[in-house]
Amino acid sequence: MSKSLTLPLCNKFPKVSIIGAGNVGKTLAQRIIERNLANACLLDIVEGLPQGIALDLMEARGLELHNRNIIGTNDYQDTANSDVVVITAGVARKPGMSREDLLKINAKIVTEAAQKCLVYSPNALYLVITNPLDVMTYLVWKTTNLPCEKVVGMAGVLDSARLQAFIAMELGVSVTDVQSMVLGGHGDLMLPLPRYCTVSGIPITELLDDITINKLVQRTRDGGAEIIKLLKTGSAYYAPASSAFYMIESVLLNQSRLLPAAVYLQGEYGLNDLYLGVPCRLGCSGVEQILQLNLTDEEKQALQISARSVRDNINLALTTMRN
Ligand code: APR
Repeated sequence: MSKSLTLPLCNKFPKVSIIGAGNVGKTLAQRIIERNLANACLLDIVEGLPQGIALDLMEARGLELHNRNIIGTNDYQDTANSDVVVITAGVARKPGMSREDLLKINAKIVTEAAQKCLVYSPNALYLVITNPLDVMTYLVWKTTNLPCEKVVGMAGVLDSARLQAFIAMELGVSVTDVQSMVLGGHGDLMLPLPRYCTVSGIPITELLDDITINKLVQRTRDGGAEIIKLLKTGSAYYAPASSAFYMIESVLLNQSRLLPAAVYLQGEYGLNDLYLGVPCRLGCSGVEQILQLNLTDEEKQALQISARSVRDNINLALTTMRN
């Protein structure tokens, strides 16, 4: 076969670069190549770490039966021409570290990573995973000057997946029959919406009593903390990686899925100039539409409180970055 015939075929596969080869980054990379979605580039600040993971995954290809490529690197040049850039790099809060310290450290890591990626992949969609999620997504958008539809944060899909799992476990039904919706910031003030949760089209409010629903809602809010407590070191990564995969698939396969994600608000829900979790349509051009759900007065108030907390943290991050 001639070179000119083989090359375009090889080039047909999209490329996803993942910044941060920690638990979330490496699990996502594995999902992306083993499910044949895209070629991957895994970058980390630690020398040898992404290279070792990439080599290990390349050696598994014959057994996992796929032909996707993955490279591990410490050099941003290798991220060139990515269709999607995922930012998972960051540090976890350690004992003695204030919330402000964590914001400052992760803000620096995330904004520098995004700016470096931007040089080589100006047309990519940027998906942010590092916490505090809504704040980090805002900072990526702000410091890259990318169109807001090209910068999105992963949280709502994860929070909704957790609620979906808990509903299915409670009712003893297949998780695939359960639909759920969680809005707001990724944290204690997130807003699970039982009114918009269904099982095969039946609202859960008709299947479960208020006390049980409130219990599931609270467990969703505490979802991340519950896993941290069990693991003792580190935080959740399988469901976060699956959530990111779900979003990337919607972009690369232009599925235009309707899902909750941290998007830039310009008047929607009465909110301006911040990133917050709301339902949107995600396709090959990025965030294609933001949906405005009808909320009760109580839900509106809860969303405002969540937004205020995100706004305060954005202001804090911007101030600490200037100092
Ligand atoms: N550039 C590149 N990589 C970096 C940098 C940097 N400046 N700083 C840290 N990293 C890398 C670390 O070396 C580490 O490999 O980011 C990785 C983070 O991995 P983990 O600590 O395992 O964190 P993980 O569980 O993957 O979570 C990543 O997702 O859910 C959120 O809160 C979580 O913010 C965290 C992120």
